[in-house]
Amino acid sequence: MNKEKRNFTCTTCGYKTIKWVGCCPECQEWNSIQEEKQERLKWATKGTNLTVSMVSLDTVQTTALKRMLSGIGEWDRVVGGGIMPSSIIILTGDPGIGKSTLLLQISHGLSHNYKVFYFSTEESLQQVKLRANRLGCIDSKLLFSDHAELENIIATALQHKPDIIIIDSIQNCYGAQTTTIPGSISQLRESVFYLMRLAKENNITVMLTGHITKEGTIAGPKTLEHIVDGVFYLQGEDRWQTRILRSVKNRFGPINELGFFEMQHNGLIEVPNINEHLLNEVSYSPGSVLISVIEGSRPLLLELQALIIESKLAIPQRVISGIDHKQVMLIAAILEKYLHIKLSKHDIFIKVSGGFKVKGSGIDLGIALSLLSSYFQLPLPQKSIALGEISLPGQIKPINQINIFIREAEKFGIKTIINAHNQKIEKTKCTMKSFKNVYDLLSLFKE
Ligand code: TYD
Ligand code: MG
Repeated sequence: MNKEKRNFTCTTCGYKTIKWVGCCPECQEWNSIQEEKQERLKWATKGTNLTVSMVSLDTVQTTALKRMLSGIGEWDRVVGGGIMPSSIIILTGDPGIGKSTLLLQISHGLSHNYKVFYFSTEESLQQVKLRANRLGCIDSKLLFSDHAELENIIATALQHKPDIIIIDSIQNCYGAQTTTIPGSISQLRESVFYLMRLAKENNITVMLTGHITKEGTIAGPKTLEHIVDGVFYLQGEDRWQTRILRSVKNRFGPINELGFFEMQHNGLIEVPNINEHLLNEVSYSPGSVLISVIEGSRPLLLELQALIIESKLAIPQRVISGIDHKQVMLIAAILEKYLHIKLSKHDIFIKVSGGFKVKGSGIDLGIALSLLSSYFQLPLPQKSIALGEISLPGQIKPINQINIFIREAEKFGIKTIINAHNQKIEKTKCTMKSFKNVYDLLSLFKE
């Protein structure tokens, strides 16, 4: 009996199975399962003329690897000091977040020094022109096409040898010659693979945009992330104009680095000094507390806003955005237990201003103080910041890297640091208000 192992793959989602099935158990697509033809590498053992030359690294030229700067400082910094030549990167985010806007602005910046070809596979040239007019990005050096066929794009790139090609978006790009279904995940993966080869073999930098799925991954498989050199997410919330650019994978630079922009009528405007921008909005009114978290390489100063009101419902409402729901519930439970405040009979609304998402135990104290401040309807000291962790028995604990937060806060005129009694702090001009446990926090609300 032939015991050779057979493999079947879903051409839509990439699901693998050893048995043929009519309907893919993963994506529920019918007739998408095909057998993988396993070409055995028999010739490899026979000795052929397919050998490649091996080189010593001393002989490899690196002069061509000067990073490509777009002149948009926040972008250049997040990608690691400009894009690495011959790399392939993907910019992703929700539809309408501003990917095409950012990419057009970057292409315009890059076109001053590099030959850039922009393939708009989603929008017609008229639509791109309308956007470019709005952004002031019309330049005879930046060339566009609205062709979406992968073979044409690659052939054009091979013939004209641009320094950079941009494809907006990769999901709308299709391969006429490939065996996979247009628009399917396997085709997406195949397209990115060919573009990766184009980048590496011809010294062409490739920048792609890709949509995100409901689950927050680049539409299609995570495997796309493995093929490319860099994955950058553009994030933000509709009602806020702030857009955050985050590096989640970067072979040639730091990860989790953040860049900040603001969406305005004439495109994405850089916000190089984000903390100054954020602090302008802080109200220091009841329920408002300043906290700090490290994002990428920088501490961010953010405002937490809570609203506590007596609930009219049998099950009080909990509307929480930007922080982990469980973390807020835990802090509320600690306050209820040790301060005998009936938060469980109150509606709790809490959010991080600016549409940011924060996590980490260093914001525990901030959460507790914003809940208490709203509950008592009394503000915290003006220009103060809360930095501390809270343990289950209600003790305030020191946090790591507090001096980085304090230095940043001091730079922006913060006067008071609310923290744990045993926190070690370097010399600072700020006043310390240090506490041992949650019960002691009540002294902040005694008029
Ligand atoms: P877009 O770049 O098309 O998003 P994506 O490519 O991620 O889908 O941006 C679309 C949104 O941005 C749209 O709602 C309009 C808004 N916008 C501005 O506010 N200002 C601008 O200058 C531009 C070009 C777009
Ligand atoms: Mg777009």
